[in-house]
Amino acid sequence: MTDRREEAVDVLRQNRHEGYTIPSATLYPYQWNWDSAFVAVGLAHADPAAAKRELRTLLDAMWPNGMVPQIAFWADAEGYFPGPEEWDAGTDEVQTSGITQPPMLVPAARHVYETTGDDAFRDELLPLLDRHLSWWVDERSFDGDTVYVRHPWATGMDDSPAWVPVLESFAPEEITDDLDYVREDRKSADLSEQRPTDWDYDRYVALVRQGKALDWDEARLREECPFLVEDALTNAIFVRACDDLAALYASAGDQRKADEWRRQAEHSRAGMRERLWDEELGTFVSYDRVGDRPLRVNSVAGLIGVFGEVPTNEQFARLRENLRENFLTYDYACPSYVGPEMDYDRYWRGPVWTNVNWLLADGLRRYGAVDLADRIEGDSLELLEREGFREYFNPETGAGRGSDRFSWSAALYLDWTTHE
Ligand code: SER
Repeated sequence: MTDRREEAVDVLRQNRHEGYTIPSATLYPYQWNWDSAFVAVGLAHADPAAAKRELRTLLDAMWPNGMVPQIAFWADAEGYFPGPEEWDAGTDEVQTSGITQPPMLVPAARHVYETTGDDAFRDELLPLLDRHLSWWVDERSFDGDTVYVRHPWATGMDDSPAWVPVLESFAPEEITDDLDYVREDRKSADLSEQRPTDWDYDRYVALVRQGKALDWDEARLREECPFLVEDALTNAIFVRACDDLAALYASAGDQRKADEWRRQAEHSRAGMRERLWDEELGTFVSYDRVGDRPLRVNSVAGLIGVFGEVPTNEQFARLRENLRENFLTYDYACPSYVGPEMDYDRYWRGPVWTNVNWLLADGLRRYGAVDLADRIEGDSLELLEREGFREYFNPETGAGRGSDRFSWSAALYLDWTTHE
């Protein structure tokens, strides 16, 4: 094993708690939903038993209604806001946050199954994954095709400029009477410049406090929450998740269920093509259901439509042009956002993220765009080898940013270097 691979295994070992892996010891000391999914993808190669356990633990945190929470607070930890008391949510088994994250755990489960060939693991997970994706359709879709989220943190791309018009549409004081809080995420002067602003944070916290005041009741939140967004990235992963669930059912011999989820994937794909495609930008955009308007920004979130094989061939030709002209002109692929609010160093406003690159490269290969996928993977490997397993990277200089020894960066390095 190369030194870097050994180091990646070591990062994952150090960040491992009883049954799950924390994203980073300095910033995120609990189990996060899509982080665990990416971790399982990498662990499938290095420690398959741990990969399976990672997903089982995440599913152990599923709510009775089928929501898989964004954070599961399995053990006490210091240094994170908002913690368990702040959310006041969860199940008899575990306290959790009150929102979800993109359903990456389904593609991860398929990957772990196909890497290990463990039929019993597949059969054990199938009903749980089915319950989770059914929750999206039943509780989080206005039209039965595209799905929505109700917090920027649920998209995974917290401070994307796409959310600004929605966050501007309400005053935090309108939805909570308590805006008193202390941030825990700026542990150094550098991090202050790299994390979301206070303006963003006030709105994130207000949405959490509104949810808590409404007991996380989906029906009431659908009426009152000012942030109900059909996020392009979540929908792309959702479509892929439906296809992957169908593939898992097919391999288990359940053709009826496989057909059902394939039809759902097709239906959701059609909804995205129709309502979320932006021909002028050459990407998918998110849609604000409260303000009834598209959120028109050129974010990598929209390019990740390829992960769900959402773009038609004509849409893909336009998307590829956008990718080449606006994103691949930077020294390091692929900035998370390009446009007037771009900030090379700030969280989801420009930096390169390895999980995004992984999703994008996977999707581009599905369209036969091998050259573009190779460029994105090559840049990712160069950054990880030079800078270490950082959380994100400056797209011009490549400098590592955010937390160090970040789990999904280490895990995806293991996946990429396994296929080399
Ligand atoms: N990314 C969020 C944070 O920074 C939570 O998912 O806390």
